[in-house]
Amino acid sequence: MKFVFFGAPGAGKGTMAAKAAETFGFPHISTGEIFRGAMRDGTPLGLKVKAIIESGGLVSDELTIGLVEERLAMPDAKAGWLLDGFPRTLGQAEALAAFCPEDHVIDLEASDEKVLDRLSGRRMCRSCGRSWHVRFMPTAKPGICDHCGGELYTRDDDREESVKVRLENYRSQTAPLQDYYRRRGTLVTVDGEADADSVWTVLKGVMERLVSARQA
Ligand code: AP5
Repeated sequence: MKFVFFGAPGAGKGTMAAKAAETFGFPHISTGEIFRGAMRDGTPLGLKVKAIIESGGLVSDELTIGLVEERLAMPDAKAGWLLDGFPRTLGQAEALAAFCPEDHVIDLEASDEKVLDRLSGRRMCRSCGRSWHVRFMPTAKPGICDHCGGELYTRDDDREESVKVRLENYRSQTAPLQDYYRRRGTLVTVDGEADADSVWTVLKGVMERLVSARQA
């Protein structure tokens, strides 16, 4: 099945999509993580997007759409996928609908206060890309990923100025897609305000029902 994880920066898309990938077996495809991987490796893509991402801006539709179309054509995405961070503009949503339409869009809703709190304490793993939080999801050993033992770091775009730009972009360009998906009948809203275990319990139930309905 094909799920889009949708929501504001810090709503918990990456955290929940990682859990869903483990539980349901679909690949977790995060455009942010693809870009950060390219930046880490210093590839031409990484060099191209570095300044845009660090300032909180959006990478062009042309580049992002091409990259996602290529990734969804890979063999591991044949039976389904969990897209995290794409689409973010109407152009991206229309492109996805044309080349590989979604079954459901999981819209994780969280207040501004929550997302700011989450982004300010987030730490990412350099090796596996998982996100942790100094207070809400601390690792057993500070600075070390519980999942793979990788080193944790703070994202450059989690600085206050970049977060402000990301939230503005979300409100002006991405949030309007809620109406687009409501009209397509694929939007499923999940309350993302509670702690991570509680949100996951609800989300897992929702996804199980959607998967069973599909198989029935
Ligand atoms: P991307 O990586 O997609 O960033 P984002 O959308 O801003 O989302 P975040 O990763 O900040 O938040 P999240 O919702 O995944 O939250 P998380 O689970 O980590 O994109 C980065 C950049 O790449 C963009 O700004 C843009 O420049 C570019 N880009 C990417 N896709 C693009 C596209 N399609 N088009 C153009 N440009 C694109 O959780 C946050 C923190 O909270 C973590 O510390 C976590 O541990 C914690 N947490 C999670 N859930 C909970 C909970 N329920 N309770 C308490 N803490 C929680």
